Amino acid sequence: QTLVNKGKIHLFRNLLKSTPSSCKCLLVRKHSDGAQRFVSFDEVVAQRRAEARRSIVVQVNSEASFNELYGYCSKYATIAGVHHYKNTGGEHFMLIEFSSEDNLKEIIKSCSTHQKDLDVMALNSPFLWFRAASGKKEVFKTPSMTLSSMDGCSMVDEDELFQELLKCDTVSDQIQLLYDRTKLNDLGIRLRYMVARQVECVFESLYANIAVRPFGSSVNGFGKMGCDLDLVLTNTLTEEMWNELYHANVRRAQVKQKMKSKSKHNHSVSRLGPLDESSAHKRLVFQDKRCEGGRSPRQRHMESVAELLELRVPGAARLQRILHARVPIVKFAHDYTDLDCDLCYNNMSGVHMSSLLWSLGGLDARVRPLTFAVRRWAQAAALTNPHPGRWITNFPLTLMVLFFLQNTPGGCVLPTVKTLVQRAGKEDVRIAEENLNCTFLRDMNKLPPECYSQNKANLQTLLLQFFEFYSQFNFQDKAISINEGTAIRKPNSLPLYVVNPLEQALNVSRNVSYEECERLKLEVRNAAWQLEAGLEGQKNDDWGVLGLVERKTTRGLKKLLRVGNSHRLVSVKDLFNDTEESVSKETLKNKLE
Ligand code: CTP
Ligand code: MG
Repeated sequence: QTLVNKGKIHLFRNLLKSTPSSCKCLLVRKHSDGAQRFVSFDEVVAQRRAEARRSIVVQVNSEASFNELYGYCSKYATIAGVHHYKNTGGEHFMLIEFSSEDNLKEIIKSCSTHQKDLDVMALNSPFLWFRAASGKKEVFKTPSMTLSSMDGCSMVDEDELFQELLKCDTVSDQIQLLYDRTKLNDLGIRLRYMVARQVECVFESLYANIAVRPFGSSVNGFGKMGCDLDLVLTNTLTEEMWNELYHANVRRAQVKQKMKSKSKHNHSVSRLGPLDESSAHKRLVFQDKRCEGGRSPRQRHMESVAELLELRVPGAARLQRILHARVPIVKFAHDYTDLDCDLCYNNMSGVHMSSLLWSLGGLDARVRPLTFAVRRWAQAAALTNPHPGRWITNFPLTLMVLFFLQNTPGGCVLPTVKTLVQRAGKEDVRIAEENLNCTFLRDMNKLPPECYSQNKANLQTLLLQFFEFYSQFNFQDKAISINEGTAIRKPNSLPLYVVNPLEQALNVSRNVSYEECERLKLEVRNAAWQLEAGLEGQKNDDWGVLGLVERKTTRGLKKLLRVGNSHRLVSVKDLFNDTEESVSKETLKNKLE
């Protein structure tokens, strides 16, 4: 898209030629008539899930194993693409995408298990390893494709990024670069869907109609390299049932209405589709198994989920059970992909929220870069923190950016959620667990152009206006609601109130303390001032967004290093190398000074 926007259509065409066909629909965003086409969340998810179903991740010795692995696998199936990466443990992996799911079944059939250890039970998982050949080495032809080598797990090198930001011509370029260099890349997304698929494989054999879906920043378009992986285990039949129940209620209400008024609206009832599609007409029903005993069934399910993750999911380690929260979760680390994962159960509203954020983020090319800059600034100012606590998190912060973009001077950049709800059709109806209505327009191609991108300001102006907007915001009395697109009255006295767009009675920033909210107010004022000051004069180390996105505690140290002072810095380890074990307080103080 960047190439097309820059008029470099020939480069874009070349890129398209060398892209596996499965990725093309993600790249092509323009109709033949030149009009923009938005790819819906459901389209992307369906495609990524299908991609994961025909992929495996194989641990290998090094990149040099490519020829052998390619040759070995192509004996069984047609390969569509191979991606190499290393995890932080220095282990090498290759993600192989096959042409079809049937192809993958052939490969899986050919897999063997570790026979030597009788305590290890065989597992069915798309994560495999490539054993060294025994006996005479087979000779394979040179692969007909090149190996794509990317960082799937690791984050961008901060010093390199800093140097690149320093070289940018404008602040808008800096914001765009920050986004382009830190956003989740294709391999990062593939690996996240692979972990979801791996967990799904385990539960598929135990539960009917099960799906494991990623949600949150991994899929909503606001994810950066290294972000956590939020997963939800759902029963697809329950999802269908809620939707059907809703449609049945609508039908009933319409029939009642029709009988009352005996009007000409007969056709609108039939348009809703025949009732016999609903699950009420499926005559054979699974026998249920109810959880008995004192604890809540959801908690007990999550306990068994945790147990299975420990026993049956290779790579899943360091499990933590957080079962007393409003939404019980199991946390685990996935060692092959370096991902921190949170798994919850039957919480589809998180997926619908991701769909909403995906749609709003895709409507205008400035939304995601601006949000990245704001999230990065908040991290540098220590407003956000990787550990849960009394501070704001990325999710409400993102909603604050979206709210600002609904209120930009000279016309909105984004529509309100209310507009999306009003424009929803029958195909957009989604009812999540506990009858939560998550219906809003999914296909942004149906949204009239006058509903968005009315303001044409560049990213620099928008970032400055964002800080100015919140410098003047009345946090004391007002709540932020992207549903209404205007500040509404706070229903209680919590310091920061950001309305949950899908459950409007909830405040997504209810954990934020008074002190943290005060710090947020102070930091937005500082940032507005700093950005404005940084636009004038020479391009120094704090130029443009640099002063905002570098962590304050390390800024002094980095400056010292850049001006060639590294010889003055001594490692604490070296300081004590020649010291006897017990050091007096006085010596310690002298040494540190
Ligand atoms: N969520 C929610 N209500 C909250 C918190 C979270 O509905 N109070 C949902 C949102 O859909 C959010 C997702 O849960 O995107 C995951 O939450 P979290 O991991 O905290 O945020 P992310 O958006 O994934 O951002 P990050 O990159 O910081 O993980
Ligand atoms: Mg997350």
